[in-house]
Amino acid sequence: MDINSEPEVWHFDHISFAREASFEFRSEFQGEIAGLGLWAWNLSSGEVVWNREEYGLYNLEPDTFPGTRDAWLRLIHPQDLERVQSRVLQALQEELQYEDVFRILLPHGEVRWLMGRGTLERDESGRAVRMVGINMNITERKETELALLEQESLMREMLEQQRRFVADAGHELRAPLTTIQGNLELLRRFPGMTPQDRNEALDETELEAKRLGRLVSDLLSLARADSGNKLKQEEVFFEQMLENALFEVQEKAREHTLELGPLPSSRVRGDRERLQQLVLILLDNALKYTPKGGRICLELKQDSDGVKLEVHDNGMGISEKDLPHVFERFYRADQARARGNDPGGTGLGLSIAQWIVGQHGGSIALESELGVGTTARVTLPLALPLT
Ligand SMILES: Nc1ncnc2c1ncn2[C@@H]1O[C@H](COP(=O)(O)OP(=O)(O)OP(=O)(O)O)[C@@H](O)[C@H]1O
Ligand SMILES: [Mg+2]
Repeated sequence: MDINSEPEVWHFDHISFAREASFEFRSEFQGEIAGLGLWAWNLSSGEVVWNREEYGLYNLEPDTFPGTRDAWLRLIHPQDLERVQSRVLQALQEELQYEDVFRILLPHGEVRWLMGRGTLERDESGRAVRMVGINMNITERKETELALLEQESLMREMLEQQRRFVADAGHELRAPLTTIQGNLELLRRFPGMTPQDRNEALDETELEAKRLGRLVSDLLSLARADSGNKLKQEEVFFEQMLENALFEVQEKAREHTLELGPLPSSRVRGDRERLQQLVLILLDNALKYTPKGGRICLELKQDSDGVKLEVHDNGMGISEKDLPHVFERFYRADQARARGNDPGGTGLGLSIAQWIVGQHGGSIALESELGVGTTARVTLPLALPLT
């Protein structure tokens, strides 16, 4: 069929389109089918003709589309353009069916997904003269498909996180258990050991058992976090809770200077026990990573943003490389683990702190300079807005 010798065919309407289209095309799509766009592309002139439905797919009026292949290409989403062009070229070169799913840009910038198919037509001498095809709007299906894919990759990521968590937890649990087992074995096998050796073995066993106990309770906190457990909603007098936390660390802080700024009365809605845990985590870090004789300073402020707690220390600080990772589970900065210098820890404190703050609708951030010190800042919404 030579369209150049039958120009009237290109005065397009869907009936003449169907009449002039290939047999297969005609028998499959007689007349207008709602949502099914029909198109034909004259390979020598570059002219493109559409039926009414095809205009509808592009949200265009017939007089706004110049009817050329280049004008059509301009409607294709820039990220799909190269692929669409190469698919069309491949169909022409290899004389295959053209088939593709691509995005188009509607006049107001909206994106629509189309499924397109096309087939080559030849004249009597066998020369390819045009390509005719169909387009369908598959946006809804595609969006559902993409949402499903996104959900699937999210699930996969969560599973991977869970797997890593279990592996890391197992690794951390094994270390104190090995020490406890080793010491028990020693005590059993050498009943005649000196009282000093015996005490050393017992002290170490006790220390490791404590570490194990803390680790298990940290893991339980995180398991609660992962299962989406809701925290209590009680009225908490933050300054009182802070005083309780300070009382608890008194013993550990004997070799540091602990400074306390003014404690304005601040009411927060939340879980008293968890908020106390949060303060203890920050104090524990400040004490642990500040050498003896160092200074730890606590400040409590209140403004329209909420209650602000700051814990400053002049300890070892955190390097720029480590700082972005300190809230990750099991992450410990290199210098904290330096041989002979490790104050001990599992790298769970700050991830628990972050969960507690998040559950209270607040925010937490760490500022630090290596060798200079660290400041942890927590902001929590006020139970009642300031008047
Ligand atoms: N005040 C601080 N000064 C220096 N480094 C800190 C400070 N707070 C946290 N870090 C660094 O961040 C890492 C993560 O802290 P996090 O509290 O999560 O774990 P941890 O203290 O190592 O172990 P855990 O708290 O579970 O006993 C620490 O290992 C340490 O390297
Ligand atoms: Mg810690």
